[in-house]
Amino acid sequence: MSIIVGVSAHYHDSACCIIKDGKLIAAAEEERFSKIKHDSGIPTGAFRYCLREAKATIRDVDCIAYYEDPYKKASRQISTNLTDLIQNPKRRFKIDPARAERDIRQSLGFDGPIEYVDHHLSHAASSFFFSGFSEAALLTVDGVGEWATTTYGFGKNDKIDLFEEVSFPNSLGLLYSTITAYLGFDVNDAEYKVMGLAPYGNPRYVDKINQLIEIGDGGQYRLKMEYFDFLNGERMYSDRLADLFDEPPREAESELGTFHMDLAASLQRSLEDILLAKVRYMHDTHPVDNLCMAGGVALNCVANGRILREGPFSKLFVQPAASDAGGSLGAAAIAHIRRTGQRPELKPMPHVYLGPSYSNQDIRQTVSAIFPETSIVDCTKNPDNLIKETAKRLASGKVIGWFQGRMEFGPRALGSRSIIADPREPGMRDRINELVKMREAFRPFAPAVLDTKAAEHFDLDHASPFMLETCQVISPLSLPAITHVDGSARVQTVSAQSNPRFHALLAEFDRLTDCPILLNTSFNMRGDAIVLDPVDAIWCFVVSDIDALVIGDYIVDRGFRLDTWDKLKEIFGARSAKKRAVPESVNVYSFL
Ligand SMILES: [Fe+2]
Repeated sequence: MSIIVGVSAHYHDSACCIIKDGKLIAAAEEERFSKIKHDSGIPTGAFRYCLREAKATIRDVDCIAYYEDPYKKASRQISTNLTDLIQNPKRRFKIDPARAERDIRQSLGFDGPIEYVDHHLSHAASSFFFSGFSEAALLTVDGVGEWATTTYGFGKNDKIDLFEEVSFPNSLGLLYSTITAYLGFDVNDAEYKVMGLAPYGNPRYVDKINQLIEIGDGGQYRLKMEYFDFLNGERMYSDRLADLFDEPPREAESELGTFHMDLAASLQRSLEDILLAKVRYMHDTHPVDNLCMAGGVALNCVANGRILREGPFSKLFVQPAASDAGGSLGAAAIAHIRRTGQRPELKPMPHVYLGPSYSNQDIRQTVSAIFPETSIVDCTKNPDNLIKETAKRLASGKVIGWFQGRMEFGPRALGSRSIIADPREPGMRDRINELVKMREAFRPFAPAVLDTKAAEHFDLDHASPFMLETCQVISPLSLPAITHVDGSARVQTVSAQSNPRFHALLAEFDRLTDCPILLNTSFNMRGDAIVLDPVDAIWCFVVSDIDALVIGDYIVDRGFRLDTWDKLKEIFGARSAKKRAVPESVNVYSFL
């Protein structure tokens, strides 16, 4: 028996996974356990969970695979942070290539072998070895790994060859993050907001964006560093960037104007054009059908849609946890191959439900401790009734917290830890924002649709189970809550195999309303990680104004409200407001 644990940590989005005899058993981000969004600490909670799920003890683990080479990373950190280190000598302690091993030994308690796998090789492997393809071109794009920021590769059977790379500080991820900061959004968190803002604008600054980057031959490109300041650690962009656009940087949370929308549109268009050109280059060198992508930039679902529609590859697989969390999967896969000589099982990742689940008994205990019996609908004896009752509530305009089965791995809620609602309601977007999300009104929510009916409502001729690409809405229904200003949507197709209960709910909602689509957004309050367990779900339900909580085989209606809940909401609301006053430091990308 072979048991490999994959770990990503110490940068963004720490995570842990476990591969047993070549089969991915479990994976989870640490933020769900620690409640620190994008937690970068060693993933102790996720590690304990993975062992539990695999019914293994630490003694059964053959190897821990770490998703980058900390020594290569330290060489880049030292050489590119010299100015910062001279000014702030104590920061030298943050450059610590021994930390990964120390934390694995001391915090995880593992004294067996550790394998280091290069950061972009981990990204590439996280996509290729879970794509089900026996051969594919591989593209990884992120902010930065050790030195690489973009790699081009080819995968065949159990081999990956990364044949070309672009090195730091030249980085498409950092270009996107720099404009994200200039637009007043949080770096390394809110890039998706810029993508969401783009359809409101006119890409009239494409030429100016293109002045920030020089496109080279093959896979190469170079950032013109006079426009960037991220190497100095204080901010992302230089004054010359503001001079180029002749506009001051936007203050966080201030009003968005035409300039900001046009700039977002221009950045998005440039990114898509560059990626398309590089993807064509890859196809010229490796003319195969399949493309695999990973790295944070691969979460740009608008670009992914264009790559698939306009690019030369007929099939695209994007690792659903494309950011650093997913690196743990790739590292574990590579370590598995190194140790056994065999690739992980050759089949496409069927779903991302790789996190913890909770029994009805666990749920009942928590629910009964908090809610009066009269507000709990018990469907344990008749689970079909749970689907019927939930669909009925959705059809009458209720917003539901939907907590079912194993938690998703990756940034998207895909029907296990979701807030769901009727997408046809004109006011639903504003309502959910008011109840729980408190997010920018310009961003639509995403739709989940029955896979068999997707083509009737969306311009999509293939499954999109992971919500990783956008397409046009062609539905005869009016779907204002999930349709973007440019008529697009970020679709999740739901099959009976991947998520039977969510599929059954969509089918029942369709039966009641002739609409096989639900609005689907993540189950969390703004600024918080997605809920992990029944306590988190109940807490989110209590402090928000969601109408009902459907948790395991129980439904809790908000037919009553304790006085203390209002007090809690007041406290929680104040906390959220505090979070919204963004401190300046989040607009700087830290390389330490
Ligand atoms: Fe990365």
